[in-house]
Amino acid sequence: MRAFITAVSMAPRGTFYALCALLALAAPLVTCDCPPEREGATHDEGKLHKDLLCAYNYDFRPVKDHKQSLTVKVRFAIKYLSFDSLEETFTLHSWVAMMWKDEFLSWRPEDYGGIKETQMESHEIWTPRMALFNADASMYQSDQIYTTCMVSSEGVVTCVPHVAHSGICRTSLRSWPYDVQNCTLYFGSWMNTGEQVNFTFYNKQPIVREDYQDGPGWKLLNVVNERLPGKYSCCPNSTYPMLKYTFVMKRIAAGPAAIVVVPSIVIVLLTLVALAMDAKDNTRLMLICFSLYGHFMFLTEIGYDIPKHSADTPIILLFLRDSMIVTLVGIIETIFLMYLRRRKVPAPGFIVSVNRLVANGPGKYVIFTEFDPSEMDTKELAGNSSDITTDKPPVTFDWVQFAIILNRINFMVIVLVYIILVGTYIPHDD
Ligand SMILES: *[C@@H]1O[C@H](CO)[C@@H](O)[C@H](O)[C@H]1NC(C)=O
Ligand SMILES: *[C@@H]1O[C@H](CO)[C@@H](O)[C@H](O)[C@H]1NC(C)=O
Ligand SMILES: *[C@@H]1O[C@H](CO)[C@@H](O)[C@H](O)[C@H]1NC(C)=O
Repeated sequence: MRAFITAVSMAPRGTFYALCALLALAAPLVTCDCPPEREGATHDEGKLHKDLLCAYNYDFRPVKDHKQSLTVKVRFAIKYLSFDSLEETFTLHSWVAMMWKDEFLSWRPEDYGGIKETQMESHEIWTPRMALFNADASMYQSDQIYTTCMVSSEGVVTCVPHVAHSGICRTSLRSWPYDVQNCTLYFGSWMNTGEQVNFTFYNKQPIVREDYQDGPGWKLLNVVNERLPGKYSCCPNSTYPMLKYTFVMKRIAAGPAAIVVVPSIVIVLLTLVALAMDAKDNTRLMLICFSLYGHFMFLTEIGYDIPKHSADTPIILLFLRDSMIVTLVGIIETIFLMYLRRRKVPAPGFIVSVNRLVANGPGKYVIFTEFDPSEMDTKELAGNSSDITTDKPPVTFDWVQFAIILNRINFMVIVLVYIILVGTYIPHDD
């Protein structure tokens, strides 16, 4: 029957309508209601359309031999892409060029006034249904296309619908805001195997990026296309090919960096400055308490900006959390040192020997502690040592010296902790 219809569509017009009438009588399924009195459509293009579509059935693949595969070539001209605020869905706006050969849409140009190309509406002819496999199901996305297609006299159909595809993209936010995301879209056919409809790329320029504009907050670094042959052990005789497009995108980080990364470095420096101070005045305690308060405020504040629902937490949050703990340790240490400095009882022997060890050994270059009594608190000196002629310093000096040694050691430990924290946690721009 197919061969017959094709023969009919190729035959001269006179015989054609006669055959149509015959056909209409013989096979009621074949739509061929082209009454002869309407034949007055002398317009070549109208005649061409009428003749092409007269017996056309757009439900079936346009191949004469049903065992033959139909190759559909696909090219994406990408225009724009965006992430939604929850950073899990990804939308690509593009012109999707699809090209295939429709064996029932060819004609001889000389029969139709030399027309070599014509436009047809996509709903009048068969079109491939290219579905997005990892589509965002919350958005209705049709795999049908609605556009006007170009048809050439050899039957080559080219449709270029403008479509938006929304896909699910698992984002990895560890190095937020300097993160790079790979989002992949998989296209293929739900209903047809690769032996029926074979989706492939255009040989030249499978992806066009000329008209591309970056969406808000993201810069497209690269697009990688790959055709997955879709061979599975279950079904040796059929393939399920997929077109895979991987979009590599980088967050535009200047804004988030100014809001989050730089302030966290400032707040850490505040803690360090406070800990470098001597514990004898209250400024140190005030400064470090302010720093702890700053950590709280800052964490609350950036909690709104940082996407924190994703599977992996941005490490900058972990950094701030740990920095807050270090600051708390600093407060406890400060209070303890202030307590040591106020002690009036004689220091136990081991403290005296530790002090002596540091003062006389190479430790004094590391600890930078000044043991000269004249550098010490003169009020305490005056109050405690009635006889300044003796070489022995007053008893409370042992505590003060010990506090200074502890403070220095502790400062170095905390600097080391911060170096490790920054090394492991602070994200950086490559
Ligand atoms: C992202 O895709 C690029 C290009 O295909 C690849 O080199 C890179 O390893 C991918 N990164 C991740 C995290 O998958
Ligand atoms: C589909 O196309 C690909 C590449 O263009 C080719 O390698 C493959 O053999 C084709 N599959 C069929 C069933 O024709
Ligand atoms: C695959 O094709 C071969 C040869 O045509 C046939 O013998 C075999 O039964 C087919 N296998 C399946 C799973 O259809």
